[in-house]
Amino acid sequence: MIKILIVHGPNLDLLGDREPTVYGTDTLENINALLQKEAGKNNIELKIFQSNSEGDIVNFLGDNRKWAEGIIINPAAYTHTSVAIRDAIKALNIPTVEVHLSNIYAREEFRQKSLIAPVAIATISGFGKQSYVLALYGLLNLIKGQKNE
Ligand code: DQA
Repeated sequence: MIKILIVHGPNLDLLGDREPTVYGTDTLENINALLQKEAGKNNIELKIFQSNSEGDIVNFLGDNRKWAEGIIINPAAYTHTSVAIRDAIKALNIPTVEVHLSNIYAREEFRQKSLIAPVAIATISGFGKQSYVLALYGLLNLIKGQKNE
């Protein structure tokens, strides 16, 4: 079993209703179900967490540092502001993929800067819910490769 954390940041609990032209019509439950389905096919165990508060995300990452082999995080608005989440990812030293539903580089200027990107192994931005699925397969490949070294 490969153990991966999925972390969803603020306002992602509102998906489905939230700006559907930008973020799509899937709810967070739909996205999580899709990820669980892919995980099931690939011997991956997921722990999924959503929070609207920065401290809770930092605590969740720290609390799972001995468990997780990989992290997929959509830090949402904290992407652009959170030194605390960036420092937590750096401190954990666990391969982390940053994901976004929308292409943050094609949006407002304030979204075009990510504090998380420099501490992530990769960023996937703009494929909607498939951003998460691509991150899962990328991370799976990377972790399997590391285990076979
Ligand atoms: C987002 C992009 C962020 O700029 C925004 O604050 C979000 C969602 C995305 O998935 O496209 O809440 O991370």
